[in-house]
Amino acid sequence: MSQIVFIARESDSDEPRVAASVESVKKLKSLGFDVVVEAGAGMRSRVPDAEFEKAGARIGSAADAKSADVILKVRRPTAEEVTGYRSGAIVIAIMDPYGNEAAIAAMAEAGLTAFAMELMPRITRAQSMDVLSSQANLAGYQAVVDAANEYDRALPMMMTAAGTVPAAKVFVMGAGVAGLQAIATARRLGAMVSATDVRPAAKEQVASLGAKFIAVEDEEFKAAETAGGYAKEMSKDYQAKQAALVAEHIAKQDIVITTALIPGRPAPRLVTRAMLDAMKPGSVVVDLAVERGGNVEGAEAGQVVEIGGVKVVGHLNVPGRIAASASLLYAKNLVTFLETMVSKETKALAVNMEDELVKATALTHGGAVVHPAFGGPNGGDK
Ligand code: NAI
Repeated sequence: MSQIVFIARESDSDEPRVAASVESVKKLKSLGFDVVVEAGAGMRSRVPDAEFEKAGARIGSAADAKSADVILKVRRPTAEEVTGYRSGAIVIAIMDPYGNEAAIAAMAEAGLTAFAMELMPRITRAQSMDVLSSQANLAGYQAVVDAANEYDRALPMMMTAAGTVPAAKVFVMGAGVAGLQAIATARRLGAMVSATDVRPAAKEQVASLGAKFIAVEDEEFKAAETAGGYAKEMSKDYQAKQAALVAEHIAKQDIVITTALIPGRPAPRLVTRAMLDAMKPGSVVVDLAVERGGNVEGAEAGQVVEIGGVKVVGHLNVPGRIAASASLLYAKNLVTFLETMVSKETKALAVNMEDELVKATALTHGGAVVHPAFGGPNGGDK
């Protein structure tokens, strides 16, 4: 008998994404799974039930989750949803595990094998499963679109018979996955783009996209990247020097997009109230880090606020604002990961708890929390 994959409809009304695409359903079928999609699951990502049906899925209801071997979701299941899954089932989602230890323990108690996609290691083998990259890339694009929408002028320089419209100046703070896409998108729209980051490796990437790099390049900067390629928290002294440089630069910008994050820490504060005050009225600042505490002083999660004539944009779930594209990439991330857990010989699920990807992402298994960072064995005191 075939094993069943259940695609849930997200119960959170703030989540328009879905954990499947037409392509991913076809792929799951070819791997030997029966696929059940909860009715309406794809509606807000522009995939009607009939499209999933055509791809080989059966349209079902929430009650079908009970017989599923694998449940694919965007967000961590609620306590109520967990009671609807059978013990031993695999659940894969963006689990937001930090600070949610009780919810993880509940999944362990329910006997689920739960995987957190955002804990996927950033190694070559797992690149096609990297949800942080797939979603941040789209968020970076969407940030520019949102900024352009709030900005009541044109972005490109336009030379017309009636005169010249100057190009908008866009400054991107944090040149990781989201920031680099924001730079590329703003360039495509014809803006004059500059960017900053504390990782020295970002300098070349920014330049290769045709943007100007702005940073205090002292000894600390040259050593500011961790072995994993992430940013470190910088010293107070560096932060002060960088802030002075940035303050002067920001005052001349029309649009600022902030994307700066440090793993496991609150987002660094990069734009102060004084910097906002120095900007021209009608300028736009988009804070992509607002969910993690915000890079911009005064940014409010889920809102566009006006501070001293500057519009500060703090949309939540930015990948969800471009849901159809985000779902398409997320579904591919999921199915690529699930494929690694299917035996080529028997076509059955065979989870190898010793596999590097499984080890990094598994939160619960066999009735217990297994991830060391969330109360599993060998966790110590983190
Ligand atoms: P992130 O989302 O953790 O942070 C975004 C950016 O903010 C980073 O570039 C970071 O250096 C920067 N930042 C932090 N503090 C800052 C400050 N005070 N001022 C200015 N900028 C600041 O990072 P993300 O986007 O996840 O990527 C981090 C690195 O990992 C990048 O080099 C990226 O290319 C690399 N990466 C590698 C992958 C792989 O599979 N090998 C996959 C994805 C990313």
